[in-house]
Amino acid sequence: MSQIGILGAGAVGQLIGHQLAASGTLPMLIDRQLHAISELLTLMDLNGNPSTLRFTKPEYNSPPLGKLDLLIVTVKAYQVVEAVTRVLPELSPHCHLLLLHNGLGPHEQVAAMLNGRGLTLGTTSQGALRLSKYDLKQTGSGLTQFGHCMGPAMAPELKASLLSAIPGSEWVEAILPALWQKLAVNACINPLTAIHGVCNGELADDAYQATIAAVLRELVEVARTQGMALQEESLSARVYEVIRLTASNRSSMRQDVDHRRKTEIDAINGYLVSLGNRHGVATPTNKALVDAIHALERRF
Ligand code: PAF
Repeated sequence: MSQIGILGAGAVGQLIGHQLAASGTLPMLIDRQLHAISELLTLMDLNGNPSTLRFTKPEYNSPPLGKLDLLIVTVKAYQVVEAVTRVLPELSPHCHLLLLHNGLGPHEQVAAMLNGRGLTLGTTSQGALRLSKYDLKQTGSGLTQFGHCMGPAMAPELKASLLSAIPGSEWVEAILPALWQKLAVNACINPLTAIHGVCNGELADDAYQATIAAVLRELVEVARTQGMALQEESLSARVYEVIRLTASNRSSMRQDVDHRRKTEIDAINGYLVSLGNRHGVATPTNKALVDAIHALERRF
């Protein structure tokens, strides 16, 4: 049977851990220091059904990472390169990597480090709130997409395990356009909810309409410089659909700000601003959001 590891024990890592375990594939959950998590984890799913889970504890200080067939990296965007650098020497040469985080950019550096290993990229709109360190409440359903990035393709049985475990998940042939669409969702929802201290659903209010439209207009122009043809209307429809589906959710950036943690703004709106600067596309609305989040972070 294939061995799956999850590197990053935050909300997304724990949620996917619960979902894999519930479908019969108990993964190894590892923190950024490469310690296996062995605490009791609890989840309240969207239907209010509670479940508990205790991940098997291999050797606490040195989990057998060399036995993994797939490592799902769920750390924050700004932690990806450091976490992958730390874990790679422990992995077997055939271990496949899957990056699952908000924003874009880190995969460009990771791709250069893999030494022939395969890389898949993914994105999820599932929402989850950590009530305490290992006590999770799922707060939103939503699409999860995976797709091949480089090197050997993910083994079919690993793909099947992921797709059967994660509700609303799909495999896409072209992952980069899917990641750009998710970037559009995060570029609108995350900074606005964090700055105004509101839940995702409140962004349906007319007061946010002009900013959301401007963020998307700039994103479409920046994406064009990357050979990515995106339509503002369909992006807008997707953003408002996620706002509706995750209405009661506190976005990950709002949770980061509430807990005085560094946010993923540099890999989301910041990524757009830096590409815009490089290619001569003006991004004043995204820049204003980046500046506002940085100002909040400076207070921590
Ligand atoms: O970052 C998040 O919070 C999520 O990606 C999303 C989809 C915006 C839902 O809250």
